Amino acid sequence: MARRSYPDVSQPAISSVPAISALSAECALSTISALPALRDLLLSVPAAATGRCATTASSASTSTSRPTAATAATAAGATATAATAATGATAATGATAAAPASTTANRDRHGGHRRCVEKPMSTLRPFLARLSTDPEELTQFIRDPRGTMQRLELDEAGQHALLAASASAMWDLLLNRSSREPVSVVESEILVKPAGGLVVVGTGIRTVGQFTIEAIAWIKAADTVLYLVADPVAEEVIRKLNPTNAMSLRGYYGEGVMRTQSYEAMIEHIMSCVRAGERTCVAFYGHPGVFAYPSHESIRRARAEGYAARMLPGVSAEDCLFADLGIDPAVSGCLTMEASDFLLHDRMIDTSMALVLWQVGVVGDWTYRREGYKLDALPMLVAKLTALYGGAHEAIIYEAATLPGLPPRILPIALIHISSVYINAGSTLYIPPLRAKSLNRAVANTLGVTGVTL
Ligand SMILES: C[S@@+](CC[C@H](N)C(=O)[O-])C[C@H]1O[C@@H](n2cnc3c(N)ncnc32)[C@H](O)[C@@H]1O
Repeated sequence: MARRSYPDVSQPAISSVPAISALSAECALSTISALPALRDLLLSVPAAATGRCATTASSASTSTSRPTAATAATAAGATATAATAATGATAATGATAAAPASTTANRDRHGGHRRCVEKPMSTLRPFLARLSTDPEELTQFIRDPRGTMQRLELDEAGQHALLAASASAMWDLLLNRSSREPVSVVESEILVKPAGGLVVVGTGIRTVGQFTIEAIAWIKAADTVLYLVADPVAEEVIRKLNPTNAMSLRGYYGEGVMRTQSYEAMIEHIMSCVRAGERTCVAFYGHPGVFAYPSHESIRRARAEGYAARMLPGVSAEDCLFADLGIDPAVSGCLTMEASDFLLHDRMIDTSMALVLWQVGVVGDWTYRREGYKLDALPMLVAKLTALYGGAHEAIIYEAATLPGLPPRILPIALIHISSVYINAGSTLYIPPLRAKSLNRAVANTLGVTGVTL
């Protein structure tokens, strides 16, 4: 049976892939409370949202009870809406923010009226909202940050905060708080761009909808775009975004040639563009850093030679899998591994965790094959899985939809029945946990955790 030939850009079973650790809800909350700005955003209501006056925050009219996260989120949303409505979400946002501080009558706890002064809202919030939703403006911002800020009438404080990449100054403006520290005049590296440099982006698994605005903007802004994508829609999009400077790296694959050899040629091509001083953008399908060797290696080499290089995240096959199969890796934990790597190395596999095996459709074949891979090693993979889980354990062969409106392919199958008939180069194997995780009672007692299965 002919199998689809996906560009395979991962390092084949040589390096070990770290397991993704699950982030529990508690862990997420403690992370949030460790980030003051984010915590403030989630746990407090900005002055403008409550109608509270900055100058009279301690007055009797101000409730001292801490709002819930839900009310804060609603209020923050209301502020954003109000700010957007007030500014019309257009380029002329500066007009509102530049308006003089107004006075508002408020009723205090005793029913009397008092006057208070509202701080004018910075235009940073609508400016960033604009960049978040308009790839053309984000492209302009990448090309010319100062010009874009001025054209969209971002106020001076917002410009300083952005240019200095000052998180505290930006949060102060976004939350309409009094500034705590002066903004340094030293401009961040992010906005003062040397010539050339490398940005690696992902096109998502389903181009329609998963191509991020950030990826679109960088492709448009680049002097050279190189790409290795799996579907003609992604190729069409890239060529439309940057018609004169885009080129596919697919030609570096050779039938039956070791993939590592092709990757080396791709990396050298990428580096030649970076060395020539071109702002180089390289697009890989899915997330560009997930099971993708040339992307990481190009960034490593570019940095080693002193060029600015970074990777932007994209939507990976595993992201789609979690969504389509309704799996939260926080529940059981999740091991994620390349199939040949799993087969070749002796690892401690914890069967109380979910296991995601990538590249099952090319297991044991390190060459590139257009018409389907040799799967002589597949029975060995099945034998190893069967020994761990038992042949009757039901796994899922999964393929995310790459075109809009189509369902994903979700094929439940007992491990013992997995064969090359059912899988191809785009398949990922999901193996649910076999057993419940066991609680460490000593730790649970020390932490005072009782009556809960964690
Ligand atoms: C070289 S890796 C590239 C992964 C890609 N960078 C990503 O972010 O998903 C190729 C492997 O990704 C997985 N994959 C690619 N496309 C997929 C799809 N549509 N559905 C499920 N898995 C997919 C398969 O395991 C495939 O063998």
